[in-house]
Amino acid sequence: MVISGIFCYYTIMADNKMEKIVALCKRRGFIYPGSEIYGGVANTYDYGPVGTELLSNIKNAWWKTFVHQRDDIVGIEASLISHQEIWKASGHTTGFADAMIDCKNCKLRIRADHVIEEYYSKRSIKEKVEGKSLDALDKIIQNDLGIVCPNCGKHKWTGVRKFNLLFPVNLGIVEGDQSLAYLRGETAQGMFVNFQNVVDSTRVRLPFGIAQLGKSFRNEITPGNSIFRTLEFEQGEIEYFFDPEKSDWEKLFDEWKKSMWSFVVKELGVNEKNLRWREHGDEERSFYSKRTEDLEYKFPFGFKELWGLAYRTDYDLRQHAKFANKDLSITDPETGKKVVPHVIEPAVGINRMLLMILCDAYREDDPSTSSGPSGNRVVLKLHPKLAPVKVAVFPLLANKLPLVKMAKDVYRDLKKHINGMITLDDRGNIGKRYYAQDEIGTPFCITIDFQSLEDKTVTVRDRDSMKQERVKIENLGSLITQKLA
Ligand code: GAP
Repeated sequence: MVISGIFCYYTIMADNKMEKIVALCKRRGFIYPGSEIYGGVANTYDYGPVGTELLSNIKNAWWKTFVHQRDDIVGIEASLISHQEIWKASGHTTGFADAMIDCKNCKLRIRADHVIEEYYSKRSIKEKVEGKSLDALDKIIQNDLGIVCPNCGKHKWTGVRKFNLLFPVNLGIVEGDQSLAYLRGETAQGMFVNFQNVVDSTRVRLPFGIAQLGKSFRNEITPGNSIFRTLEFEQGEIEYFFDPEKSDWEKLFDEWKKSMWSFVVKELGVNEKNLRWREHGDEERSFYSKRTEDLEYKFPFGFKELWGLAYRTDYDLRQHAKFANKDLSITDPETGKKVVPHVIEPAVGINRMLLMILCDAYREDDPSTSSGPSGNRVVLKLHPKLAPVKVAVFPLLANKLPLVKMAKDVYRDLKKHINGMITLDDRGNIGKRYYAQDEIGTPFCITIDFQSLEDKTVTVRDRDSMKQERVKIENLGSLITQKLA
């Protein structure tokens, strides 16, 4: 099942920083390869204890910003298994495909555009591959540039052909063609097919958005890079509906650009030097989209799409109205006129956001000044709001019962006050414990020492400055809550 050749090749090719992040993720419980004890399933991943916390913190931040803190957006949660007609209407059964090639020698299956991009980047060829037609990709692969298979090194390719990304599922209770359904390929369609339900059951008025967080599934064949592109992934999408006669789409588009940028910089704490906008050219953009721009992040393997923003016009609602034979318009309360709204769609992958956050937060301190046991402190400078573990509590010595008891009391008390994971650690020496918490990005470490027994104060050590301050135990809860805000 696993195409191990792809893994090997890209592991060798991967940037050193990426390799270190992948190793850290496995070692410390962020991300594990999926189904690992059975040899793995390529492009699937499981999240460990700290990875799960981080993922959930990102989702909460997204939901808070785009649903709870806005007056004009409501959330839904649609089914993952969906009617086959949804995907015919949306164009996914025919148009949702990647260009694939197989190596006739070693049977490696790979995306044609990825092989060409790799070839171009090694030779610093600036030509763009994204958006090229099947024929154009085929010409590049078949002509004698000598693009060889990354697995076996041979130039024995099949022709380039389309490979549909939707995952079909067969429903047990119905027979024949009717049993076919699909795992959703994007969360977006859930918003379109529930548009009328939301209008009828709430008090929304144009312009308004419907948001959703949830899994999508795509039968992707990808070149690794950890969780960047996977078979199942969490999407955060908003369909922002408006009347094009009353709202200026260009203005709305620009407002969305600002909201997305600000979320990544302010809420996720990402360095804006690593961000840029890239507009899709005519050949790359979907035929129904008037404008599409990607917010890109500079991953260790280059600038790549993080978050797409597309003006999808009224295409989706009109398609569903036609295929389902339903009226998907909304009545303007001022004019009484029926409007099929247009839509602007910000669509992001939450797992891809998580990878960006890890890449951006990863630091190795200067060995000469570092406190790590091997001289190299690895630290994840995560925004405290996102950190999987908020506080670690240490008794200075594990074999001094009064210290251990006090540490347990502080730990239990903090658990009541702080929203998020708190941990208690008495293994090894203090330096190693700090180092272990730095690696997973814990912003604060509290140590109970002999002075604590006398005056009920503890040290609070800051992950980034490594400075320690002495704080009264009774003030800990409010101090840490304040620092995490
Ligand atoms: N409704 C539009 C839509 O789904 P997309 O560009 O295909 O657009 C949106 O996906 C976002 O979802 C991307 O910007 C990316 O962050 C994420 N994404 C797409 N495919 C992914 C995959 N296979 N694995 C992880 N994330 C993915």
